[in-house]
Amino acid sequence: MSLNFGVKFQENENKLKLVVEEVEKSETVYQLLKASNIMMINRMKYNDHGPIHAKIVANHALKMLEILFKKGVLPNIVKDYNLNFEDSKVVVFLASVLHDVGNAVQREQHPVLSAILSKDEIRKILMKTYDGGEREIMLTEILHAIVSHEDLIPQTIEASIVKVADALDMEEGRARIPYLLGKMSIHQVSALAVKKVNIEEGTVKPVYVEIEMENPAGIFQIDELLLKRISSSLLSDKIELKVNIRGAGIFKII
Ligand SMILES: [Fe+2]
Repeated sequence: MSLNFGVKFQENENKLKLVVEEVEKSETVYQLLKASNIMMINRMKYNDHGPIHAKIVANHALKMLEILFKKGVLPNIVKDYNLNFEDSKVVVFLASVLHDVGNAVQREQHPVLSAILSKDEIRKILMKTYDGGEREIMLTEILHAIVSHEDLIPQTIEASIVKVADALDMEEGRARIPYLLGKMSIHQVSALAVKKVNIEEGTVKPVYVEIEMENPAGIFQIDELLLKRISSSLLSDKIELKVNIRGAGIFKII
C-alpha cells in the first residue's frame, strides 16, 4: 500500500503536514480510493476516480486556495470560525482526497456516499491535530465540500475550490465527465483533446486558468462541466478562464 499526494508545504505548516502524513499511511483511505476505481474502471469501464485523481484534485485545489488567499479572498473557516488559513488547507486537502470514494458503492449519489464512507476516518485522521469542538467544525466543513462537489451549491470558498478543482483534472484524456474507455464518443474525443491545465495568479480576476487543447473538441468539456462547476460555486466572479487551441490561438471563455 502506498499513497503519496506530493503536497508542497509552506514553512510552519505542521498541522497540514501531520494530516497529510496520516492520510498517506491510512489503510482505509487507500482501500476506499482503490475500491472506487474497481467499481469505476474495472466494472463500469469509466475513467480514473482513484488515487491519481485524488492527488491531482488536491494539488489543483491547494494551489487555487493559495492564490485566492493571497489575493484577499478569505476562506470560510477563517471568516466564520476564526480558524487559520492552514486549517482551510486541511479542509480542502481532505475533501479533495475523499470526495469520490462513494463511487465504490454506487455512481449515483456518490457525493453523499463519499461523506458517509469517509466520516469516521476523517475524525480519526483529525484526532492528533484537533481537539473537541474544532475537530467537529473541521469535519462538517470537509463533509460540506464533499457533498457539494457535484450538483449541490457549495456555501463555502473551500467547497467551491474542491468543486472546481475536481473538474480541472482534465489533462491528457482525464476529463471528468465519465466516458466509456475505448468507445468513440464526443466525451472521449473532447477529453483526449485537452492537453494541459495551467492555474496561475490572475491580473483581471484572482485566479487565471488556461486550458491548452489540441483541437476545439475540448471545448465540450469546458461547456459541459467546468463552466457549470464555476458558475454554481462561490468562485464565479473569481476565475478568468481562457482556452489555448493549438494553431488557432487563445480565446477568452469567462
Ligand atoms: Fe472527482
